Amino acid sequence: MQRTPEPELMEGLDQALAYAAADFSAGDQQLMERLVQLFPDGLGAAVVDLGCGPGNISFRLAERFPTAQVLGLDGAAAMLAPGLQELGRRPALQQRLRFEQRCLPDPSLPGGFTAVVSNSLLHHLHHPAVLWQAVRQLGAPGACVFIKDLRRPPTPEAALALQQRYLSDAPLVLQHDYIASLHAAFTPEEVQQQLGDAGLVDQLQVAPVDDRYLEVWGRLL
Ligand SMILES: C[S@@+](CC[C@H](N)C(=O)[O-])C[C@H]1O[C@@H](n2cnc3c(N)ncnc32)[C@H](O)[C@@H]1O
Repeated sequence: MQRTPEPELMEGLDQALAYAAADFSAGDQQLMERLVQLFPDGLGAAVVDLGCGPGNISFRLAERFPTAQVLGLDGAAAMLAPGLQELGRRPALQQRLRFEQRCLPDPSLPGGFTAVVSNSLLHHLHHPAVLWQAVRQLGAPGACVFIKDLRRPPTPEAALALQQRYLSDAPLVLQHDYIASLHAAFTPEEVQQQLGDAGLVDQLQVAPVDDRYLEVWGRLL
Protein backbone atom coordinates (compact mmCIF):
# COMPACT_ATOMS: atom_id res chain seq x y z
CA MET A 1 0.00 0.00 0.00
CA GLN A 2 1.06 3.63 -0.52
CA ARG A 3 2.48 5.56 2.43
CA THR A 4 0.05 7.98 4.14
CA PRO A 5 1.96 10.43 6.37
CA GLU A 6 0.54 11.29 9.78
CA PRO A 7 1.04 14.51 11.77
CA GLU A 8 4.69 14.85 12.75
CA LEU A 9 4.46 16.06 16.34
CA MET A 10 2.25 14.36 18.91
CA GLU A 11 0.87 17.53 20.41
CA GLY A 12 -2.55 16.30 21.55
CA LEU A 13 -2.88 16.11 25.32
CA ASP A 14 -5.09 13.00 25.23
CA GLN A 15 -2.66 11.38 22.81
CA ALA A 16 0.36 12.22 24.99
CA LEU A 17 -1.33 11.03 28.20
CA ALA A 18 -2.44 7.75 26.61
CA TYR A 19 1.05 7.17 25.22
CA ALA A 20 2.73 7.88 28.55
CA ALA A 21 0.31 5.58 30.39
CA ALA A 22 0.73 2.67 27.95
CA ASP A 23 3.05 -0.18 28.82
CA PHE A 24 5.73 -0.41 26.14
CA SER A 25 8.21 -1.98 28.55
CA ALA A 26 8.63 -5.31 26.72
CA GLY A 27 9.53 -3.63 23.43
CA ASP A 28 11.68 -1.01 25.14
CA GLN A 29 13.60 -3.72 26.99
CA GLN A 30 14.13 -5.63 23.74
CA LEU A 31 15.54 -2.49 22.18
CA MET A 32 18.02 -2.10 25.03
CA GLU A 33 19.13 -5.72 24.76
CA ARG A 34 19.65 -5.28 21.03
CA LEU A 35 21.73 -2.15 21.65
CA VAL A 36 23.97 -4.04 24.07
CA GLN A 37 24.29 -6.90 21.59
CA LEU A 38 25.22 -4.57 18.71
CA PHE A 39 27.55 -2.35 20.76
CA PRO A 40 29.02 -4.53 23.53
CA ASP A 41 31.62 -1.89 24.40
CA GLY A 42 28.89 0.62 25.23
CA LEU A 43 27.67 3.82 23.63
CA GLY A 44 30.35 6.23 24.79
CA ALA A 45 30.06 9.43 26.80
CA ALA A 46 27.21 11.29 25.09
CA VAL A 47 23.99 9.71 23.82
CA VAL A 48 21.13 11.49 22.07
CA ASP A 49 17.61 10.02 21.80
CA LEU A 50 15.74 11.63 18.89
CA GLY A 51 11.95 11.94 19.15
CA CYS A 52 12.19 10.76 22.74
CA GLY A 53 8.51 11.36 23.66
CA PRO A 54 8.02 10.76 27.40
CA GLY A 55 11.55 9.35 27.60
CA ASN A 56 10.86 5.61 27.74
CA ILE A 57 14.13 4.91 26.01
CA SER A 58 16.06 7.90 27.41
CA PHE A 59 15.54 6.72 31.01
CA ARG A 60 16.64 3.21 30.13
CA LEU A 61 19.73 4.54 28.35
CA ALA A 62 20.71 6.59 31.38
CA GLU A 63 20.19 3.61 33.69
CA ARG A 64 21.97 1.06 31.49
CA PHE A 65 24.96 3.29 30.64
CA PRO A 66 25.85 4.97 33.95
CA THR A 67 28.86 6.85 32.61
CA ALA A 68 26.96 8.44 29.71
CA GLN A 69 25.27 11.82 29.49
CA VAL A 70 21.88 11.31 27.80
CA LEU A 71 19.90 13.99 25.96
CA GLY A 72 16.30 13.34 24.91
CA LEU A 73 14.91 15.61 22.19
CA ASP A 74 11.32 15.98 21.08
CA GLY A 75 9.38 18.71 19.32
CA ALA A 76 6.16 18.21 21.31
CA ALA A 77 5.87 19.76 24.76
CA ALA A 78 2.92 17.50 25.61
CA MET A 79 5.02 14.39 24.98
CA LEU A 80 8.00 15.67 26.97
CA ALA A 81 5.94 16.70 30.01
CA PRO A 82 5.57 13.23 31.62
CA GLY A 83 9.30 12.59 31.17
CA LEU A 84 10.20 15.89 32.80
CA GLN A 85 7.90 15.07 35.73
CA GLU A 86 9.46 11.63 36.09
CA LEU A 87 12.95 13.12 36.00
CA GLY A 88 11.91 15.45 38.81
CA ARG A 89 11.27 12.33 40.92
CA ARG A 90 14.66 10.78 40.02
CA PRO A 91 17.39 13.02 41.51
CA ALA A 92 20.04 10.35 40.90
CA LEU A 93 19.59 10.76 37.14
CA GLN A 94 19.34 14.53 37.00
CA GLN A 95 23.06 15.10 36.47
CA ARG A 96 23.16 12.79 33.46
CA LEU A 97 19.75 12.93 31.77
CA ARG A 98 18.23 16.02 30.15
CA PHE A 99 15.23 16.65 27.95
CA GLU A 100 14.90 19.50 25.49
CA GLN A 101 12.06 20.59 23.27
CA ARG A 102 13.59 20.68 19.79
CA CYS A 103 11.93 20.11 16.46
CA LEU A 104 14.04 18.48 13.76
CA PRO A 105 15.56 19.71 11.57
CA ASP A 106 17.40 22.00 13.96
CA PRO A 107 20.75 23.25 12.62
CA SER A 108 21.55 24.83 16.00
CA LEU A 109 21.94 21.43 17.69
CA PRO A 110 25.56 20.62 18.51
CA GLY A 111 27.38 17.59 17.14
CA GLY A 112 29.81 15.27 18.89
CA PHE A 113 27.44 12.62 20.27
CA THR A 114 29.01 9.19 20.61
CA ALA A 115 25.66 7.52 19.99
CA VAL A 116 22.47 8.51 18.16
CA VAL A 117 19.41 6.45 19.08
CA SER A 118 15.81 6.79 17.97
CA ASN A 119 12.70 4.68 18.47
CA SER A 120 9.51 5.27 16.47
CA LEU A 121 10.40 8.70 15.13
CA LEU A 122 11.13 7.96 11.48
CA HIS A 123 7.54 7.15 10.50
CA HIS A 124 6.39 10.52 11.86
CA LEU A 125 8.62 12.53 9.57
CA HIS A 126 7.11 13.93 6.40
CA HIS A 127 10.61 14.13 4.98
CA PRO A 128 12.64 11.15 6.21
CA ALA A 129 15.88 12.81 5.09
CA VAL A 130 15.45 14.95 8.24
CA LEU A 131 16.39 11.95 10.41
CA TRP A 132 19.44 10.96 8.37
CA GLN A 133 20.61 14.57 8.27
CA ALA A 134 20.23 14.73 12.09
CA VAL A 135 22.27 11.52 12.44
CA ARG A 136 25.06 13.08 10.39
CA GLN A 137 24.83 16.43 12.20
CA LEU A 138 24.77 15.06 15.74
CA GLY A 139 26.97 11.97 15.53
CA ALA A 140 30.72 12.18 16.13
CA PRO A 141 33.08 10.19 13.90
CA GLY A 142 32.71 6.55 14.96
CA ALA A 143 29.35 7.20 16.65
CA CYS A 144 27.05 4.24 17.27
CA VAL A 145 23.72 4.60 15.46
CA PHE A 146 20.59 2.63 16.23
CA ILE A 147 17.18 3.47 14.79
CA LYS A 148 14.11 1.30 15.29
CA ASP A 149 10.69 1.86 13.78
CA LEU A 150 7.57 0.23 12.50
CA ARG A 151 7.65 -0.99 8.93
CA ARG A 152 4.74 -0.50 6.59
CA PRO A 153 2.64 -3.63 5.97
CA PRO A 154 1.70 -4.51 2.39
CA THR A 155 -2.06 -3.89 2.72
CA PRO A 156 -4.56 -2.04 4.95
CA GLU A 157 -5.89 -5.46 5.98
CA ALA A 158 -2.43 -6.49 7.20
CA ALA A 159 -2.20 -3.24 9.18
CA LEU A 160 -5.56 -3.95 10.80
CA ALA A 161 -4.49 -7.49 11.65
CA LEU A 162 -1.37 -6.15 13.43
CA GLN A 163 -3.46 -3.64 15.36
CA GLN A 164 -5.87 -6.40 16.42
CA ARG A 165 -3.01 -8.73 17.38
CA TYR A 166 -1.04 -6.22 19.44
CA LEU A 167 -3.30 -3.35 20.48
CA SER A 168 -6.86 -4.63 20.70
CA ASP A 169 -7.09 -3.80 24.43
CA ALA A 170 -5.45 -0.36 24.20
CA PRO A 171 -7.35 2.94 24.53
CA LEU A 172 -9.04 3.98 21.28
CA VAL A 173 -6.71 6.93 20.76
CA LEU A 174 -3.72 4.56 20.75
CA GLN A 175 -5.45 2.09 18.43
CA HIS A 176 -6.15 4.91 16.00
CA ASP A 177 -2.58 6.20 16.23
CA TYR A 178 -1.17 2.72 15.69
CA ILE A 179 -3.06 2.17 12.43
CA ALA A 180 -2.05 5.65 11.26
CA SER A 181 1.58 4.89 12.17
CA LEU A 182 1.59 1.62 10.24
CA HIS A 183 0.26 3.48 7.18
CA ALA A 184 2.91 6.19 7.65
CA ALA A 185 5.84 3.82 8.15
CA PHE A 186 8.49 3.01 5.54
CA THR A 187 9.57 -0.29 4.06
CA PRO A 188 13.16 -1.53 4.45
CA GLU A 189 13.66 -0.93 0.71
CA GLU A 190 12.59 2.71 1.07
CA VAL A 191 14.92 3.17 4.04
CA GLN A 192 17.77 1.64 2.05
CA GLN A 193 17.10 4.25 -0.64
CA GLN A 194 17.05 7.00 2.04
CA LEU A 195 20.43 5.84 3.33
CA GLY A 196 21.79 5.94 -0.20
CA ASP A 197 20.46 9.46 -0.75
CA ALA A 198 22.02 10.54 2.58
CA GLY A 199 25.41 9.03 1.73
CA LEU A 200 25.12 6.63 4.67
CA VAL A 201 24.77 3.35 2.86
CA ASP A 202 28.37 2.30 3.58
CA GLN A 203 27.97 3.10 7.28
CA LEU A 204 24.47 1.95 8.24
CA GLN A 205 22.49 -1.15 7.39
CA VAL A 206 18.77 -1.81 7.50
CA ALA A 207 16.86 -5.04 8.13
CA PRO A 208 13.27 -6.11 8.87
CA VAL A 209 12.70 -7.38 12.42
CA ASP A 210 9.84 -9.57 13.63
CA ASP A 211 6.50 -9.05 11.92
CA ARG A 212 6.27 -5.25 12.18
CA TYR A 213 9.60 -3.49 12.75
CA LEU A 214 12.73 -2.45 10.97
CA GLU A 215 16.11 -1.57 12.40
CA VAL A 216 18.95 0.58 11.12
CA TRP A 217 22.33 0.29 12.79
CA GLY A 218 26.02 0.87 12.30
CA ARG A 219 28.80 3.33 13.04
CA LEU A 220 29.52 6.63 11.40
CA LEU A 221 32.87 6.89 9.64
C1 LIG B 1 5.79 7.48 18.60
S1 LIG B 1 6.61 8.70 19.54
C2 LIG B 1 8.02 7.81 20.10
C3 LIG B 1 8.46 8.24 21.48
C4 LIG B 1 9.67 7.49 22.07
N1 LIG B 1 10.81 7.54 21.18
C5 LIG B 1 9.38 6.08 22.45
O1 LIG B 1 10.11 5.19 22.05
O2 LIG B 1 8.40 5.83 23.17
C6 LIG B 1 7.31 9.77 18.31
C7 LIG B 1 7.78 11.10 18.85
O3 LIG B 1 8.48 11.82 17.84
C8 LIG B 1 8.20 13.20 17.99
N2 LIG B 1 8.49 13.90 16.74
C9 LIG B 1 7.88 13.77 15.56
N3 LIG B 1 8.41 14.56 14.63
C10 LIG B 1 9.43 15.22 15.24
C11 LIG B 1 10.37 16.21 14.81
N4 LIG B 1 10.38 16.67 13.54
N5 LIG B 1 11.27 16.68 15.70
C12 LIG B 1 11.26 16.23 16.99
N6 LIG B 1 10.38 15.32 17.45
C13 LIG B 1 9.48 14.81 16.59
C14 LIG B 1 6.73 13.21 18.38
O4 LIG B 1 6.34 14.43 19.00
C15 LIG B 1 6.66 12.01 19.32
O5 LIG B 1 6.85 12.38 20.65
